[in-house]
Amino acid sequence: MSEAPVDWDSLTFSMTETDFMYIAKTAIDAPWAPGEILPYGNISISPAAGVINYGQGLFEGMKAYRTNAGRVVLFRPEENARRMQRGADRLKMPPVPESIFIDAVEQCVQQNARWIPPMGKGALYVRPLLNGSGPILGVAPAPEYTFMIYVTPVGPYFKGGMSCINLLISDHHHRAAPGGSGGVKAIGNYAPGMMPSKNAKAAGYAEVIYLDAEEHKYVEEVGAANFFCLKDGVLYTPELTGTILPGITRDSIIQLARHMGYEVVEEKVEAGFAMSAEEAFCCGTAAVISPIGSITLGDKTVTYSDGATPGELTLKLYNALTNIQNEVDEDTFGWVHPVPGLE
Ligand code: PLP
Ligand code: COI
Repeated sequence: MSEAPVDWDSLTFSMTETDFMYIAKTAIDAPWAPGEILPYGNISISPAAGVINYGQGLFEGMKAYRTNAGRVVLFRPEENARRMQRGADRLKMPPVPESIFIDAVEQCVQQNARWIPPMGKGALYVRPLLNGSGPILGVAPAPEYTFMIYVTPVGPYFKGGMSCINLLISDHHHRAAPGGSGGVKAIGNYAPGMMPSKNAKAAGYAEVIYLDAEEHKYVEEVGAANFFCLKDGVLYTPELTGTILPGITRDSIIQLARHMGYEVVEEKVEAGFAMSAEEAFCCGTAAVISPIGSITLGDKTVTYSDGATPGELTLKLYNALTNIQNEVDEDTFGWVHPVPGLE
C-alpha cells in the first residue's frame, strides 16, 4: 500500500482521516458478535438515538507504537477494554467482551498500518466508542448499541511535547460530582469542560485543573489527564474516589515509581499542598507525561523550579514509560501487546 500522505515531522494531536474503521452492533438483550472492518466514512444514525439525545456513550483512547524492535505494539489494551466494560455497566449498556474489543483494535491497527508514525514521531491513536445508537424517546437505555473504532496518527497533545505547561485551577467549575460518572469515560463528562478550558487557553494557560466538587479543596484532574506531584521525595497522586478517571498511564506511573524505589501515596491532594511541591506533572494516553511549569489559583501563581525545565523524577518517569512503550527497555511488567501481523 502507498505511503500515507502525512508529514511525520509536523504531527499534532488532531484528526487525520485514515483508510478503515470497525463497526459492531447489537440489540440490548443480545450477545455481542464480532463486527466488520469498513472503509472510513460517515455513519448514519437515528435522530432519536440514545447517544445523541441523552448522552448514552463512552469512548476510550489508546495508542499503537512502532517500536525499536521493528514491530507495532499496543500498551495494556486489556485495561482499556475493562474500563469500557465498567463504563458500560454505569451507563446501562451491554459491555463489549474483552476478546472482541482487543480483536477489533488489532484489526483496525492492522488495516491502517500505513498511518502508524515512525518510532519517535508519534503514534496511531485508537479511539473505541460504545454508544446507544437505537431510537428511544423516554429517558431509558437505547434498544440497540454500536461499538465502533477509528484511528488517526497523532503527535503531542500539548504544544511543544516535553516543554512545561502552565495550568489554571478552576475556581468556578467542576468536572465530576460524587455519585456521578467521573470515574468512567462517559462522553458527557467532556463537553462541560470545554468552556472553562477555552477560557483558560484564552488567558494563556494550557489547561485547567479541577478541584473536588464537595469541598473545592482537593486536586482531581487536569482536563483529560491525571495529576502527580513530588514533595520531600514522595510522589503523590489524588486517590480514586469515583470522581477521577482511573488512568492507565496513572497506574503505570505508580508501578514504575514504586519499582524505582519511590514511595507513592494515593490520597486527597490539597491544592495548596500541590502548589508547595517540588515537581508536578500530568499524564494520560494523549498527554503521555507533561511537566507542569506553573499553577495559578486566583491571584497566586507558583512556579516549579524555573518553570521551564522538567523535574528530575518527571523526566525519569517519562523515559521509563516511553522506553517500555517504544521497546527500548525490557518490558518487565508485561505491558506491551504486539499487534499480530505487524511483528
Ligand atoms: N483523566 C481523564 C478525564 C481522561 O479523559 C484521561 C484520558 O483517557 C485520563 C485521565 C488519562 O487516562 P489514560 O492514562 O488511561 O489515558
Ligand atoms: C486520552 O488520553 O486518550 C484522552 O482520551 C484524552 C483526550 C483526548 C480526551
